[in-house]
Amino acid sequence: MKSIRHQLLTRLLTGLAIGCLAVALCIYYVARTEIDELFDFALAVPDIDLSGGVGAHPSNSDMEQDFVVQFHDDDGKLSYSSQLIDSLPRVPDLGYSTVTLPSGKWRVYRAYNHGHYIQVAQSLEERRVLAADAALRTIMPLLLLLPVLGLLIWFTVGRGLRPLTHVASAVRQRTASVLNPLPSANIPIEVQPLVLAINDLLIRLSRALHGLRSFVADAAHELRTPLTAIRIQSQLVERAENNDERALAYADFRQGLDRATHLVTQLLALARHEQEREHPAWQSLDLLALARSGVAELAPLAAARDIDIGISGESAPIQGEAEALGVMICNLVDNAIRYTPEHGRVDVIVRHADAQAILEISDNGPGIAVDERERIFDRFYRSPGTRTTGSGLGLAIVKNIVLQHGASIELEDAMPEHGLLVRVRFTKSV
Ligand SMILES: Nc1ncnc2c1ncn2[C@@H]1O[C@H](COP(=O)(O)OP(=O)(O)O)[C@@H](O)[C@H]1O
Ligand SMILES: [Mg+2]
Repeated sequence: MKSIRHQLLTRLLTGLAIGCLAVALCIYYVARTEIDELFDFALAVPDIDLSGGVGAHPSNSDMEQDFVVQFHDDDGKLSYSSQLIDSLPRVPDLGYSTVTLPSGKWRVYRAYNHGHYIQVAQSLEERRVLAADAALRTIMPLLLLLPVLGLLIWFTVGRGLRPLTHVASAVRQRTASVLNPLPSANIPIEVQPLVLAINDLLIRLSRALHGLRSFVADAAHELRTPLTAIRIQSQLVERAENNDERALAYADFRQGLDRATHLVTQLLALARHEQEREHPAWQSLDLLALARSGVAELAPLAAARDIDIGISGESAPIQGEAEALGVMICNLVDNAIRYTPEHGRVDVIVRHADAQAILEISDNGPGIAVDERERIFDRFYRSPGTRTTGSGLGLAIVKNIVLQHGASIELEDAMPEHGLLVRVRFTKSV
């Protein structure tokens, strides 16, 4: 597993080590140039020193080992050498030159003074060693400091990351029933976005959980009524004393079952369309064709109530989920047929306006009072005094499907006869 602490430690220490190396190399090259200049100047000592006599060559300093001083007479014969270096040749030219010997390169200065050729030589190897030594001595304290810096980084980063541990333990304390926001005071600015994002998630989670709980509670409550009715109706079937009574009780019993089945179907539809889907399986659809098949499906119900149902309009292309839109249209048409008194009228119209595809379902029933139009979309809400059986879930399902499709829904009075006009506006697809 990746560790920020490890990564920071290794990267910073590697960076520092590379930095030290670069500094050492720089010092080495600068020192080499300066040592070269300095020692070249020192090599030229015969020019200055020998005015008083040939014996005044450097003899009693530390440099004695570093320098080789040789005297040659006019014939080129070696008459004196401060060290036994046989291989050091007599250089031909006066002044500075560099010669290569088996022991390495040597820097040589040759001068003619008082009848003698004097050459002073120094191994370049020695000079390099001196430069390297200078570089090493300069960066040594820095190198010794590296482990101390490592420890400092280790503890500082550990301390800096401690708020994350606090956040983790605060998150661990959250449960399905305890979803209160994490404390965001005294949190470093770098950890703040994480805490805010978690708090945002906690709020959404708690809303979703609350919704789910109340949905389950409402559903259980609503299911209890038809189930109790079914139990009573089944007892009535058992107690029937003759065939006529039994047939009547059976009819009631079946109606009770139908109601419970309808409720469960609506509950399932609500549950299915309540989830927000990230990538809905949308396809190109024709709103008019969808409306036609919805109307055709409910034609028998309309016929049974002698409702004059008609559909008209023009094709309107939209993007959406055919099954969901079918459920939405059926719920709206079903309401229009159910809540309109017998022999009434229901009109379904599909039309365009600007970039919208519009579905309008109107009836000449009792309509919905203006102050009820907000609440009518709540689950299990039914207008007080509604006699027709139902679950109160239809418009909640419709609302969810409308939202899922990025559409909008509005309720109006149907003109000229009072009734309800439901208008759903979709974005027309091109
Ligand atoms: N076209 C309509 N005309 C009059 N009232 C309606 C109409 N549509 C819906 N309503 C009212 O809205 C309530 C909620 O409708 P809905 O959510 O479909 O549930 P359900 O139809 O199961 O009662 C209904 O009980 C009814 O009172
Ligand atoms: Mg309904």
